[in-house]
Amino acid sequence: MTFKDFRATKIDVRIDLDRLFALDSKVAKASPTLLPLETKQELLKFLTVDHKTETWVWRDSEGRFIGYLSVIDKPTEQFMEVLNIGVDPEFQGKGLGKEMMAFAERTAAKLGRKKVTLVTNVKNKQAIGFYNALGYRITDKKPNYYGDGKTRYLFEKVLS
Ligand SMILES: CC(C)(COP(=O)(O)OP(=O)(O)OC[C@H]1O[C@@H](n2cnc3c(N)ncnc32)[C@H](O)[C@@H]1OP(=O)(O)O)[C@@H](O)C(=O)NCCC(=O)NCCS
Repeated sequence: MTFKDFRATKIDVRIDLDRLFALDSKVAKASPTLLPLETKQELLKFLTVDHKTETWVWRDSEGRFIGYLSVIDKPTEQFMEVLNIGVDPEFQGKGLGKEMMAFAERTAAKLGRKKVTLVTNVKNKQAIGFYNALGYRITDKKPNYYGDGKTRYLFEKVLS
């Protein structure tokens, strides 16, 4: 199976909240360093009020959500931030995350953004390995970045 054939679908998180929350919870449960959002309403607030995001999902052959990507476009600062990315644990390690980040970078480039940025917990070894493999570099290390006492790395990739 190749994920190159899989299409990204832009969703309205208000309409697809149940399915998005189910996938987000499944991903968070399998990744000890992620802080799960406890309720659907918390997830909705995170993606629409705390941050103004756009969200895409990837589906399996039966239409189930298996990957999601939420980004924040920052036109005045000329970059796009990947706020959330997750792949169903059953589908991890097969190249889908890489396709999803390539999609984010194409989207940012089409909008004329100069770079893609993201933030990750310094203990999230899986994500750090993933971002390194995709050419992202650490630009800063911030204690208590989200006010939760955890230290975060700031990553970026300058788009060519
Ligand atoms: C991080 C995540 C999105 C990666 O998606 P994925 O589909 O598993 O990743 P891919 O299979 O596309 O891997 C792409 C590259 O990253 C590398 N990679 C993936 N996981 C890695 C790890 N744990 N250590 C080192 N490298 C890793 C792969 O080797 C691959 O490199 P290659 O193309 O040179 O072979 C996924 O594992 C996930 O959902 N994790 C839980 C949620 C999370 O932590 N999100 C990030 C929050 S900041």
